Amino acid sequence: MRLHGRVALITGAAQGIGRSTAIRFAEEGARVAIVDVDAPKGEATAAEIRASGGEALFLHHDIGEDAACRAMVEEAVAAWGRLDVLFNNAYWSAAGTVVELAPADWDRSMQVMLRAIYLGCKYAIPPMIAGGGGSIIATSSVHGVLAAARSAVYEAAKAGVINLMREIAVDFGHQGIRANAICPGWIVTERGEEWARTRPDVVRQAEVMYPVGRPGRPRDIANAALYLASDESSFVTGHALVVDGGLTCQLQDSLVERMAAFARAAEGKEQ
Ligand SMILES: NC(=O)c1ccc[n+]([C@@H]2O[C@H](COP(=O)([O-])OP(=O)(O)OC[C@H]3O[C@@H](n4cnc5c(N)ncnc54)[C@H](O)[C@@H]3O)[C@@H](O)[C@H]2O)c1
Repeated sequence: MRLHGRVALITGAAQGIGRSTAIRFAEEGARVAIVDVDAPKGEATAAEIRASGGEALFLHHDIGEDAACRAMVEEAVAAWGRLDVLFNNAYWSAAGTVVELAPADWDRSMQVMLRAIYLGCKYAIPPMIAGGGGSIIATSSVHGVLAAARSAVYEAAKAGVINLMREIAVDFGHQGIRANAICPGWIVTERGEEWARTRPDVVRQAEVMYPVGRPGRPRDIANAALYLASDESSFVTGHALVVDGGLTCQLQDSLVERMAAFARAAEGKEQ
């Protein structure tokens, strides 16, 4: 019960990494506010937690709207009288190079992936300090550390998330606030599972590409978030925790050689 008595707010918790983390936090005793635009799935996640004996409520908000970022914090505090953990996890992003991206898509992506985190923190930090401190976590990505093709706004936002967490760590550390980012590699969520079923070749490729031999699961990130939310990480702040099965620790020559061997083996099978 590492989060016994704590109140946690998680954005984008109707499905995927956020959902898995909401369930994991509740297993450890937290009361969990689930924020999402998807009401049926958000309600279902909250109901699942309650059915297992946990405490959860669903808050229907679009964090792309400024007022929603304030309202979600106020509603969680009104429900349970405090806020100890804020997990900024929801995302929406347009794909494309800077030449391809429409300005409106850039703005909406930045609004959900970066501005909403600034606003969530703006409103969450005062009640957290009033309650004796808290832990802020934000889902960045390996894309916040390295760049992939045609992902201009995603890469920019996810890199921004990492330094925003550092900034909060510096500004509010003396008042009991810790702030950290998590940088996942490919995590096969419910959405990803459907896709993976139709593309077993891509899953096989990921098994070769990732040094641990598999892509990630939502629970891998939920466990990292649990560590950062709990007192076990009380000396960890301003950190970007890469949880990627070794994807980004390898030199590119190792990766290229392994992928080339994989391609040769696949070709051999085909012939
Ligand atoms: N899945 C991966 O491979 C992966 C890898 C690296 C980083 N990430 C990051 O992890 C986080 C979660 O990703 P996921 O794969 O679980 O995503 P997902 O698509 O499964 O879930 C995202 C959730 O956010 C919600 N959401 C979207 N826009 C919203 C808005 N404006 N307001 C409120 N809720 C909104 C969606 O309804 C959904 O429930 C994201 O920040 C993503 O960038 C994911």
